[in-house]
Amino acid sequence: MSHIITLIPGDGIGPEITEATVKCLEATGVGFRWDRFQAGAEYMRRTGAPDPLPGEVLDSIRRNRIALKGPLTTPVGEGFRSVNVAMRQALDLFACMRPCKNYPGIPSKYQDVDLVLFRENTEDLYAGIEFESGTEGFGEINGLVAAHCQRWLRDRSAVSVKPISEFSSRRIAQYAFEYAEHHGRRKVNIIHKAEIMRLSDGLFLEAARQVAREYPDIWYSDLPIDAICSELVINPERYDVLVLSNLFGDILSDLCAGLVGGLGVAPGANIGTHAVVFEPTHGSAPTIAGQDKANPTAMILSSVMMLRHLGEDAAADRLEGAVVDVLRSGDHLTADLAPAGTEPVGTQAFASAVVAALESPSPIAR
Ligand code: NAI
Repeated sequence: MSHIITLIPGDGIGPEITEATVKCLEATGVGFRWDRFQAGAEYMRRTGAPDPLPGEVLDSIRRNRIALKGPLTTPVGEGFRSVNVAMRQALDLFACMRPCKNYPGIPSKYQDVDLVLFRENTEDLYAGIEFESGTEGFGEINGLVAAHCQRWLRDRSAVSVKPISEFSSRRIAQYAFEYAEHHGRRKVNIIHKAEIMRLSDGLFLEAARQVAREYPDIWYSDLPIDAICSELVINPERYDVLVLSNLFGDILSDLCAGLVGGLGVAPGANIGTHAVVFEPTHGSAPTIAGQDKANPTAMILSSVMMLRHLGEDAAADRLEGAVVDVLRSGDHLTADLAPAGTEPVGTQAFASAVVAALESPSPIAR
């Protein structure tokens, strides 16, 4: 039986790392049929399509319920809104799960980091509720805040709104606690800035605390976002499961990736009730696109998560093991990981090394 997967290679380094990942997945022997789609800025430029996220892409994901996606570029400060955010909202992919752990062979300042970050994916400042001075909506908002910010009456200004609901806060917390309970994780930290954003983050925190009471076997604590940043840089191995709202989760994901070797090795999944989209944490890395320099590890490890989701645990173990074998051997490291003075390998050569390791796994116990 073949699994039917929506495949969105994305842009920038997306097509290269997708090619590498598909090569590895197909070498596991698991059957796949790829429902392949283009989306994003590059797709619009090439085809003149009016929409960076065509409805047929969403239809395919809804039908197949699983997608593997490369990164998509978002224009900064202009143009269309993020396709990634739009996809997460359209499919209600409410939980962004990003595991970060040290693998042997990946250079890092730390050892024994093994944490899983859950980011609420549908609300917060990513809701796209924004107003600029001179526009209609801004008038109302301006009236509300003018008393606090007199300069607004004179200057060009803008407002972004941070909606947080009890429903979504409970839902992400519950997902994280359930995950902890079913995956032998013992500690959950809720991250917030409730002392400043007393209503929005206050609600997020209150909802998460209520959920925590339903899981007496899991140790629970909460920490402000600034405190966890410092804590993670000093003692990341003390942390286990982290739960955050959207913006803090986005920022802390990159920090956590940095603890275990960088964005090139940080996988992820966007999880909803009806569909899951697997994608690396990183973006389209335009400065190295098209040069066979990108590290495909993050996307290959995202595909390992996908294999587990599909119930293909043996193939997932084999593929993850093959990646570990290649990294540990140290002679097939991409430019982001290769030590100074050594010759890095390209994206496709890394994938070929993983395929070779799949075919003849290392006898060393992993
Ligand atoms: P980025 O993650 O693309 O790059 C940050 C740094 O990490 C760069 O130095 C880049 O070269 C490096 N890097 C990233 N992935 C790598 C890999 N696999 N191998 C080796 N080096 C890698 O973040 P940036 O530059 O902020 O964003 C570029 C574009 O990507 C933007 O348009 C942004 O909106 C988009 N983006 C898309 C995401 C998605 O599709 N889920 C997530 C994050 C950003």
